[in-house]
Amino acid sequence: MKLAVLGCGKMTGAMLRRWLDTASLPADSVRAVTRSRSSADRVAAEFGVQASTDACEAIRWADLVLLGIKPQQVGDVLPGWADHVPPGQVWLSVLAGTTTARLQALLGPHAAVVRLMPNTPVRLGLGATAVVWPTALAAASRAQIQELLRVLGEVIALREDRIDAFTAIAGSGPAYVFLFIEALSAAAEALGFSASEAQQMAVGVVRGASQMATEDPRSAAALRAEVTSPGGMTQAAIAEFEARGWPAVVADATQAAVARARELAS
Ligand SMILES: NC(=O)c1ccc[n+]([C@@H]2O[C@H](COP(=O)([O-])OP(=O)(O)OC[C@H]3O[C@@H](n4cnc5c(N)ncnc54)[C@H](OP(=O)(O)O)[C@@H]3O)[C@@H](O)[C@H]2O)c1
Repeated sequence: MKLAVLGCGKMTGAMLRRWLDTASLPADSVRAVTRSRSSADRVAAEFGVQASTDACEAIRWADLVLLGIKPQQVGDVLPGWADHVPPGQVWLSVLAGTTTARLQALLGPHAAVVRLMPNTPVRLGLGATAVVWPTALAAASRAQIQELLRVLGEVIALREDRIDAFTAIAGSGPAYVFLFIEALSAAAEALGFSASEAQQMAVGVVRGASQMATEDPRSAAALRAEVTSPGGMTQAAIAEFEARGWPAVVADATQAAVARARELAS
């Protein structure tokens, strides 16, 4: 299978890293395309794949295309690429807020569009990727794509009207956890720990707690209760989180992400 990665940045780069690390794709079956020559040189050095700024040539060469440019750019660039799409070529899109119908209209009837919503932990095979399957897709193409997605981590098939909500939780979610790690680390420094001690503690806490939440059949609330003795230190901290509206802040943040997806789609 020949894969063209059109836009090889943080997200599609994480997917490509995993596919190369697991030998799901050999490096010589991938061509990456970026906007600038300097990014293409960086991608070629980092991944050991052929990289250029010539999207049209890569589209004509590929069996499968992975689209990873910014949603704001599709209207400008896709019309110029559409003429080069061979009949039946499958396009995987990771673009937030850009619907299958919009991509299909820009690419024309030749392309089959599969919408994906991955997150950056796919790099380690620990991602969560939503997939919106088109109604008509050859069984062989579907099996091939399923195999590529499987090595990225969890795969969840969704209806397209659920994808913005999924993105607000799982696509953007790693950033929320990194924000919490930053805050916990800064709090540790404020309590007198060195920057490296603070970072080690914050990351260790998140890793340990998420591993427990993965392996222990009890709910997160039950696991929290185990750490929260009545009248103890943890309860004092949780009371402060709740007084500041922590659960509501998380809900509002995810709503803001969904609202932004709607703006990007319009
Ligand atoms: N980051 C995430 O966690 C995440 C999660 C889920 C979905 N997504 C989606 O992934 C997409 C990319 O996001 P990102 O964070 O990976 O962005 P990014 O790191 O900025 O990567 C964008 C890539 O697109 C290339 N590009 C831009 N215009 C191009 C053009 N005209 N022709 C060819 N290549 C072009 C850029 O090349 P240059 O470097 O030369 O500009 C770069 O390689 C977005 O649509 C986003 O919604 C991201």
